[in-house]
Amino acid sequence: MTQAWSKTAWRSKPRVQMPDYPDATALHAAEAQLAKYPPLVFAGEARDLKRKLGEAARGEAFLLQGGDCAESFAEFNADIIRDTFKVLLQMAVVLTFGAKVPVIKVGRMAGQFAKPRSAPTEVISGQELPSYRGDIINGFDFTAEARIPDPSRMLQAYTQAAASLNLLRAFSKGGFADIHRVHSWTLGFAEGENAARYKALSDRISDALDFMTAAGLTSDTLAAMSTVDFYTSHEALLLEYEEALCRIDSTTGKPVAGSGHLIWIGDRTRQPDGAHVEFCRGVQNPIGLKCGPSLSAEDLKVLMQKLNPTNEAGRLTLIARFGAGKSAEHLPRLIQAVKEEGANVLWTCDPMHGNTIKSASGYKTRPFERVLQEVRDFFAVHKAEGTIPGGVHFEMTGKDVTECTGGLRAVSDEDLSDRYHTACDPRLNASQSLELAFLVAEELSQRRKELAREAV
Ligand code: PEP
Ligand code: CO
Repeated sequence: MTQAWSKTAWRSKPRVQMPDYPDATALHAAEAQLAKYPPLVFAGEARDLKRKLGEAARGEAFLLQGGDCAESFAEFNADIIRDTFKVLLQMAVVLTFGAKVPVIKVGRMAGQFAKPRSAPTEVISGQELPSYRGDIINGFDFTAEARIPDPSRMLQAYTQAAASLNLLRAFSKGGFADIHRVHSWTLGFAEGENAARYKALSDRISDALDFMTAAGLTSDTLAAMSTVDFYTSHEALLLEYEEALCRIDSTTGKPVAGSGHLIWIGDRTRQPDGAHVEFCRGVQNPIGLKCGPSLSAEDLKVLMQKLNPTNEAGRLTLIARFGAGKSAEHLPRLIQAVKEEGANVLWTCDPMHGNTIKSASGYKTRPFERVLQEVRDFFAVHKAEGTIPGGVHFEMTGKDVTECTGGLRAVSDEDLSDRYHTACDPRLNASQSLELAFLVAEELSQRRKELAREAV
């Protein structure tokens, strides 16, 4: 039996990782303002995405989800959005061409502002202050003032998300993402083996397009190749913000989160009786659930029942994030739980969050080799279990940063300080993202061939 739901019911549930706003009047004013604003996304778009994710769960498409760990107010301009979008397009082309599968493109963009933290406070040079929780909550500067949760930040986050989404929609539909421009998505600083591989692949695509045009392909088909569908996603962590942007879909009469197309529940906020699960279970968007090593099979069963009681295709994406070398221990037992329930889920792999370490130079980093290893592990387990690896989820940027070590253009421990810009976790740079896409394309193409053989 599905329990009654209201968008405020999460307020009576235990909550973790959320701020205590000191100024209740200011909080209510910000919530009231947000509640009057238009939603950022429309229910029909969220439903389209859900349908496509259902296809990915059946192996008929593949989910590519990526972007910042945390968007920031300071790092907000058109070039940054454009370059991240370009890298996502490049990765999507590598996957589509390499694995011959439609790729569903979802950004960790236009709303990815709130961060769970491993500790409530941080200490620098003997001074202890509340942790930074993302620009939508408090400031990054290490001062007592900046760290006070400020509800007016929700309004700034909304405005930034709206402007970002506006640009992304223009890029997606306005000609920028036309496949005929496949060469132009390469970034100025791109060089080396990954860039050369991408160039060779785009040459082949251009040739194929020239051939199709010469052979008289109709303009309708060419028009379909001149735009892409691009969706947004973020962790639904700050529930005051989510509640204020929740709307009733006029087509179905059901509640929908208006803050982004797909929202996910983090590994630290997935308590079955907690506030985050309570909010997410009631909105009709596709929902992601981070699955880390501490998730038990019993809890996963309860969560699947709560979040997808009607077993709808595309509703629930399970995002495995165990750490390199740990998937063989954890993924099979969770896959088993899914099988026992006969649950309809999409499995994707986040090879970032289980592989964060502190480097010798003191920076938080992720060795790229471990990121690749977790992707390989993910595919290997799905092969052994006879199940479908349906997507990848990772933190990346179009900027030429040095935040994760390794890759073909090797970033060393000493290099980390060169261009370490992230407001939170270390991201893959453009070259590492492409390298990852080539690996995923190979693994996926292999797995698809096996699945096709099994189906005969
Ligand atoms: C994240 O995706 O930024 C994140 C915090 O992930 P997780 O909840 O898996 O740790
Ligand atoms: Co992160």
